[in-house]
Amino acid sequence: MGDRPRFRRVRRSLLATGTAALTACAAIAVSSPALAATQGPCDIYAAGGTPCVAAHSTTRALYGSYNGSLYQVKRSSDSATLNVGVLSTGGYANAAAQDSFCANTTCVITVIYDQSGRGNNLTQGSGHWSGPAAGGKDNLAYANAVPVTVGGHKVYGVYIAPGTGYHTATATNGVATGDQPEGMYAIFDGSHSNGGCCFDYGNAEVSGNDTGNGHMEAIYFGSNKSWGSGTGTGPWIMADLENGLFSGVNRGFNANDPTISNRFTTAVVKGEPNHWAIRGGDAQSGSLATFYDGVRPTVSGYNPMSKEGTIILGVGGDNSNASAGTFYEGVMTSGYPSDATENSVQANVVAAAYTTYSLAGLTVGSRISLRATTACCTGDYLRHDDADTKVVISPVSASSPAATKADATWIVRAGLANGSCVSFESADKPGQYLRHSGFELYLNAGDGGSLFNSDATFCPHPGVSGQGYSFPSVNYSDHYIRHYNFTVYAATDRGTNAWDTPNFWTADVSWIVASPWA
Ligand code: AHR
Repeated sequence: MGDRPRFRRVRRSLLATGTAALTACAAIAVSSPALAATQGPCDIYAAGGTPCVAAHSTTRALYGSYNGSLYQVKRSSDSATLNVGVLSTGGYANAAAQDSFCANTTCVITVIYDQSGRGNNLTQGSGHWSGPAAGGKDNLAYANAVPVTVGGHKVYGVYIAPGTGYHTATATNGVATGDQPEGMYAIFDGSHSNGGCCFDYGNAEVSGNDTGNGHMEAIYFGSNKSWGSGTGTGPWIMADLENGLFSGVNRGFNANDPTISNRFTTAVVKGEPNHWAIRGGDAQSGSLATFYDGVRPTVSGYNPMSKEGTIILGVGGDNSNASAGTFYEGVMTSGYPSDATENSVQANVVAAAYTTYSLAGLTVGSRISLRATTACCTGDYLRHDDADTKVVISPVSASSPAATKADATWIVRAGLANGSCVSFESADKPGQYLRHSGFELYLNAGDGGSLFNSDATFCPHPGVSGQGYSFPSVNYSDHYIRHYNFTVYAATDRGTNAWDTPNFWTADVSWIVASPWA
């Protein structure tokens, strides 16, 4: 690249406090009247004699009569908080209220309220393994990271990048302890998971420490093979019973637990004295299948169980936080639900109609340019470097040379590793894609291999600064396309590389999808 030197930190520091030109690139909401559900999953569990003792969702009410707050967001501009409620009793989340409150700033989800009335709210997690946030706590999820539609309404899920986690307070109300029976289900994004320990939702230790076999009973979702696995390459639904992710009666391979990766996946785990089960299915259609139904593990500690009765989301019982996933809704019950009750819950979930949400401007096949939004650089575009294979930002304008314009133009392709995400092919170097390697971005020719395909796939979501889009990597979902000193990286907030600095983080990872320069 000959346009200007790559390192200009002084200019960056001086100008970054200036006023950014704000270009809204809002996604388009698909909406229809906010119809109240006649009954929610928790009404079904109650009718089955196994009532919910915790009900968490950022997308919808889980009781037909619920009219309270679903979750709380906090914005970075002034640290104010907003409780996001439902559009109508028993209905869908009021995402428009969040969008308005969080316009042009960063919001994180601070509380996921318990709809059961028992006060088992999920808040920022912590535990034995430190999280990346202040005080060793876990990160909080970006509130706008995973828009979807439910019943035609735009709502948001909870995006768990590695380092993100939630935990109830130490004292919960009504959640199973000891060997008491319980059930649970959750809806996850089957296309977002990893092999880190442990993307869990369910019953875990009070202290955030591993207190021994049988002290947990949670749904695990992902491709971790440290303790157990099923057929295929994962992800699998397993039960985290502490010191083990169980895909069947004992640790190790269990052939009845299939890889399951529906875009919206229903996952079920339940347990009672010397009996437990794993079930799962497609949350958009069909019924649940049973992947395990039998006795407790035969090694010491799991029969009887020693459940402790707090609830975790996104981490393991000892706050292991290397895992990734997306959560939309989930409940814990008192008592061991029947298969028939769970089948009715699955029918309710299917009827709720989860669907993906289209991100405006990122149509597969279209040509785009990506403009930086940091105040220093709002005339700069992401482009490949002519001198080498690096990726940089530099000014592009109508008077720029044609070669510069071409360098800054990209063709949106279906994600090479995941069709729900995107890859960016160079407009002037066909067959060459943006990919990360060593957490730096390069333009390289695709080789068809799984590593390249993953390194070249990014899963866009609305920009974490409130502008444009952000692009986490599919294989490192806490690493975002980020410019730093005019070079482009796959960066993680407060990581160990210089380009992971929190300074200007939200702006540096938020990009406007602009008209193509070439
Ligand atoms: O059981 C698997 C994991 O092992 C638990 O989640 C964690 O507490 C421990 O590291």
